[in-house]
Amino acid sequence: MRNVLEIQDLRVAFEAPRGIIRAVEGVSLSVAEGECLALVGESGCGKSVTSLASLRLLDTSQAIVRTDKHLLCGEEISGLSEKRMQELRGCKAAMIFQDALSALNPVMTVGRQIDEIFLRHTKLSKKEARERSISALTAVGIPDAAARYRSYPHELSGGMRQRVLIAMAFACEPELIIADEPTTALDVTIQAQILELLRRMREERGTALLLISHDLSVVASIADRIAVMYSGRIVEQAPARELLIAPRHPYTRGLLSAVVRLDDNAERFTQIPGTLPDPADKPKGCCFAPRCAHALECCKEKMPRLIEVSHGHFVRCCLNGGEGLV
Ligand SMILES: Nc1ncnc2c1ncn2[C@@H]1O[C@H](COP(=O)(O)OP(=O)(O)OP(=O)(O)O)[C@@H](O)[C@H]1O
Ligand SMILES: [Mg+2]
Repeated sequence: MRNVLEIQDLRVAFEAPRGIIRAVEGVSLSVAEGECLALVGESGCGKSVTSLASLRLLDTSQAIVRTDKHLLCGEEISGLSEKRMQELRGCKAAMIFQDALSALNPVMTVGRQIDEIFLRHTKLSKKEARERSISALTAVGIPDAAARYRSYPHELSGGMRQRVLIAMAFACEPELIIADEPTTALDVTIQAQILELLRRMREERGTALLLISHDLSVVASIADRIAVMYSGRIVEQAPARELLIAPRHPYTRGLLSAVVRLDDNAERFTQIPGTLPDPADKPKGCCFAPRCAHALECCKEKMPRLIEVSHGHFVRCCLNGGEGLV
């Protein structure tokens, strides 16, 4: 199947007073037509930087971005003009951000904000755009969409605002949607409804999804494949079922045991002890070694390679045969 997104060896660094922050170090990923790839990892591991870089949304006055290959719907985008990128964003690929309130324009009705997408990317008249916007609001389950069309963002609940963002992302039927923590700001019940909506919209329209979350339980029911990130690198990637049933990397196992404990209604869920390394001062070997209960001497010496342990299942871990520098 054709890839709608294909990135090889993405590297992103920021120059900061305390040194160079290596936020992403050699991430390669692809999302096929209609597929859902989930990118999971703790806060600060580089998920948002990866997702923003995927649509070339990073501010290049701050970020140094390098890729060997960066295809969006078959087109190499690393050298494209900003004008062409703006044409592609919203039309070929769209983004759903975590914080709907700041993603929406506070002084414009939500209806007008959806109209703008149609007016920018299609030849629809204003009246036709309005009709399409109202249907888009209806499609994401907003009751009385014609009235809500005239609402300002602050007049809607958090869940409704997130539905508006989903309507905007799907408006021009893009081939790829990137959703960065789309449910984190919402309470658990609304979170489940929004995930269900995303799943339904994606299935109905065959849209590919790059779903970003710090929570494996959020992506478990929707992802076809899961990539686990740690300290700027993918440490494990596999078909979702396999990763959830037979995780190989100690970090993935740690993330999963947190989820399992939560489902068991245990009083406290376990978190992996320790924190991510300082991105401006990463350890020499495996970045997870300082927190890993199974780490050997060799783990502290060499950064393991990402190797394929079974069909489509990749692991970056010395204990899983991944010895050797990247
Ligand atoms: N503009 C910036 N300048 C300097 N450092 C940055 C910048 N943006 C991100 N970083 C750093 O890059 C690293 C990765 O950040 P990123 O936002 O991608 O994390 P994340 O995985 O999305 O975390 P979260 O789950 O909290 O959203 C962090 O160490 C962050 O501090
Ligand atoms: Mg983030």
